[in-house]
Amino acid sequence: MFPEEYVARQLLAFTRPGDLVLDPFCGRGTTILESTLHSRRAIGTDVNLVAACVSGAKAEVPALDEVLARIDHLETHFVAGGLSVPDGEFFEYCFHSETLGELLFLRAELRWREDPIDRFVAAVALGALHGEAHRSPNYFSNRMPRTISTKPEYSVRWWKERNLAPDRRRVFPILRALSRARLSILAPSGLAKVALEDARNCAEVFSEHEGEVRLMVTSPPYLDTTDYSEDQWLRIWFLGGPERPKRKMSLDDRHTNKENYWDFLSEVWAGTERLLGSEATIAIRIGGKKLDVDEISNGLSMSLKKGLSRGFHLLDAPNTSEIKNGQLNSFRPGALGKRHEHDFVFRLH
Ligand SMILES: C[S@@+](CC[C@H](N)C(=O)[O-])C[C@H]1O[C@@H](n2cnc3c(N)ncnc32)[C@H](O)[C@@H]1O
Repeated sequence: MFPEEYVARQLLAFTRPGDLVLDPFCGRGTTILESTLHSRRAIGTDVNLVAACVSGAKAEVPALDEVLARIDHLETHFVAGGLSVPDGEFFEYCFHSETLGELLFLRAELRWREDPIDRFVAAVALGALHGEAHRSPNYFSNRMPRTISTKPEYSVRWWKERNLAPDRRRVFPILRALSRARLSILAPSGLAKVALEDARNCAEVFSEHEGEVRLMVTSPPYLDTTDYSEDQWLRIWFLGGPERPKRKMSLDDRHTNKENYWDFLSEVWAGTERLLGSEATIAIRIGGKKLDVDEISNGLSMSLKKGLSRGFHLLDAPNTSEIKNGQLNSFRPGALGKRHEHDFVFRLH
């Protein structure tokens, strides 16, 4: 994930309140949230269901009374049973049967793709879906890591070996408490919008904002990182995905081949161009194990040249930093060795 300070710095340097900011790979919504906190408007796309739900909830934050009314309504209309329980031992060991009944009901009822209130409730539920249940009474699952959804066979073996059964967790009261907590720090806002879409289709999805973007700030998937959506399979299931992890659970573009990677990025820049205003700034944080800073610098410039019809220049020498506690490292601790990422700022002319 982007650090908030990185995004805040770009916002303060290159935009004013009310300006429009774009993040075509908006992930968990750091750009989106920082922009709205700084009174900027923002738009973003992501192909991952979890990313689109979570960043979408940050983009369109509903009022607490609307959220509580929706949770009350769902609880009143909850009926146990009637929905088919997924096959296999995983769900039996992961959730208490009554907790699972409530989750299946929410999974069927929440219209998170269309409705901002339901999206907010779904995003709150995603945060509570699994985690270190012995440490917090607010996780719905048996003991599990919070950051990744472990694979079903591994999880069942782990729970059986330790004789761990899931506790009954009451989903509706937990959702109320967590929504209250979130909304005590997040003000309702309608300043931003996120679409579950490929970055290459940005300009079509947000055609009403043609020529309006002052700043694009983004971090594309890095070359040679794995698609971590498989590690989020249980959250993807809750949002309507399959009952088991699968390879390629989203259309996430991960590349191991350098040429394909730069071609992909040039298509992304082409897909955003119509949204970019004159003299828009483009701030990109990018890394990759197989690439040094010169290769990244050249590849990125070439991809921008190929993708954009307008000219641009580099504003400053790129800034390099070591990847410390990024998303990838926390998902796969120790697996990556030392890696660097580089910050580039370009200006259209
Ligand atoms: C490095 S992450 C961005 C992280 C983000 N800056 C944050 O703070 O959370 C890259 C994101 O790109 C998304 N992605 C990959 N291919 C995509 C595509 N073709 N279109 C849109 N999003 C894509 C992934 O789902 C992932 O969320």
